Amino acid sequence: MSHVDTLIAEDISAYLEAHENKSLLRFITCGSVDDGKSTLIGRLLYDSKMIFEDQLDALESDSKKHGTQGENIDFALLVDGLSAEREQGITIDVAYRFFSTDRRKFIVADTPGHEQYTRNMATGASTADLAILMIDARKGILTQTRRHSFIASSLGIRKLVLAINKMDLVEYDEAVYNRIEQDFLEFAEELSAGIEIQAIPMSALAGDNITENSDNMPWYQGPPLMEYLETVPVDDERVNAPFRMPVQWVNRPNLDFRGFSGQIASGRIKPGDKVKTLPSAKETTIERIVVHGGDLNEAIAGQSVTLTFADEVDTSRGDVICAAGEPAETADQFQARVLWMADTEMLPGRRYLLKIGTKTVTATVLDLKFGIDVNTIQDKPAKTLGLNDFGVITLALDQPIAFDPYDQNRETGGFILIDRMTNNTVGLGLIDFALRRAGNIHWQALDVDRAALAKQKEQKPAVLWFTGLSGSGKSTIANALQQKLFAMGKHTFVLDGDNVRHGLNRDLGFTDADRVENIRRVSNVSKLMSDAGLITLVSFISPFRSERRMARNMMQDGEFVEIFVDTPLEVAEQRDVKGLYKRARAGEIKNFTGLDSPYEAPESPEITINTVDQTAEQAADEIITWMRERGWFEV
Ligand code: ADX
Repeated sequence: MSHVDTLIAEDISAYLEAHENKSLLRFITCGSVDDGKSTLIGRLLYDSKMIFEDQLDALESDSKKHGTQGENIDFALLVDGLSAEREQGITIDVAYRFFSTDRRKFIVADTPGHEQYTRNMATGASTADLAILMIDARKGILTQTRRHSFIASSLGIRKLVLAINKMDLVEYDEAVYNRIEQDFLEFAEELSAGIEIQAIPMSALAGDNITENSDNMPWYQGPPLMEYLETVPVDDERVNAPFRMPVQWVNRPNLDFRGFSGQIASGRIKPGDKVKTLPSAKETTIERIVVHGGDLNEAIAGQSVTLTFADEVDTSRGDVICAAGEPAETADQFQARVLWMADTEMLPGRRYLLKIGTKTVTATVLDLKFGIDVNTIQDKPAKTLGLNDFGVITLALDQPIAFDPYDQNRETGGFILIDRMTNNTVGLGLIDFALRRAGNIHWQALDVDRAALAKQKEQKPAVLWFTGLSGSGKSTIANALQQKLFAMGKHTFVLDGDNVRHGLNRDLGFTDADRVENIRRVSNVSKLMSDAGLITLVSFISPFRSERRMARNMMQDGEFVEIFVDTPLEVAEQRDVKGLYKRARAGEIKNFTGLDSPYEAPESPEITINTVDQTAEQAADEIITWMRERGWFEV
């Protein structure tokens, strides 16, 4: 049971309009339930006496229902409601609470405090102006406090309130407060520059220094929390930034009307303003700003509108409409910081979906430059990122996007990474800058092209990709097949895992990250070979679906033939041609595929080979037949 409505994003605009003339402060509370977070939020909502009417009604009827009366009971009920929600926090990512006072309106992002919820905290922080860090006066600065401060400041929050809570439990001792403040200021030097810190000693439960200065702490000269929140200057960076609106959809109800709908990410817009659409880089003028009730003379960040253009400019979903004089940048390679939010680690070389604004593209993590330990804010060398790790990466996209560096615009500089297999959000990213490198290396067009090279060899190129467990028979079959193709006069080459690992990939081992890189490299080599007109036989365990899919997508349509050498683990282990299973079972080899490293069997391979009932020779014939039936040899 909760007395406080949790509003979803669409409701925010209704709330904002209801208190239109007041400035808005968005803040986030960090800390765990034990630190008194729910109590504090309850206090603020309660003491503001300006909670939404229906929230107050609910509160009153509830206290009547309980046969109780009086302020304290109401307050206790409110806190109960908040805590109950927190306990169910697994289902609630971020709860946005709304309240307002005579001077200002507030949106508070209330997020669970446990370590595994760093992702929720980050989501809330990415739109907040200020963070309240809850500290239990008895415990002081904890690892969690450091982690939250680092994430908040990384996500662009410039104001931190150190809420030193439960002062009543340390006899309102000034020395305790001073020591905690000092500890934090020392640590905060590691955070990005220009962060304002206000420490406030308080008791959320007893109400000390929340709305009024507490008589229990006459030594504290600063403002009570509510006064600080009401008066701290907020420069509305969203509205003051240059105009940006990602197009959510093209609104074309009939032939006479063509509008572009979306939520304004930053800045303001009026009819007559010149705009530029990106990445197409076409200029035009805004004709109308249409909303549900009619036309507007001006619209600002946060509003959902439909814009019409003076000219026919080809614009589609995912494009960004920008102020023509101050457009966003476009690029397809970046350096970015990412907060990894998934249990499965981030693997350089793997492809993810990247969603920025209303656009989703495919992104390859090129390189992890280094990781940052979020608890100590120290750089650490890293090959992968795990849950709650922060790292600096470079990324390449399959197409250019419009963006601003995150430090300049949080709305158009932030993105999320999505796992292509599970569709889960796995990372939160902040763009640092574009890498222009790619723009300066042009694809060299060659007169003797891949078609000519294939024609000269009188064959259709192919990448015959054998995947399966170690000892499944991939290389034996590839070898038999190559002999047959050779005899047919075909030009072939075999790329074998064991062999390539002696040269090109000799620096790689068998961790997930190294296997991803192994396959990335061999995919590129086989791509070059098929460009050269060859029939390439690739024989690698290639245990991950994601990388096999990447290889497939790199090749020309129809050229990639996935051949699953489907030998059961028991059979491969029993054969144990290289004696590796025995050694792996004895603990001499770590990360062995099928034992302590996964193998993801293909879901729809072109060919599945059974090695239990047939010889390598027969398997090779089966593949030749498959190719012949598909006209592979009719050139
Ligand atoms: S892959 O997983 O990255 O595709 P790859 O095909 O290159 O592997 O190499 C696999 C070969 O390396 C195996 O056939 C085996 O001979 C050898 N090997 C050595 N250690 C391992 C291991 N831990 N897991 C699997 N194969 C291993």
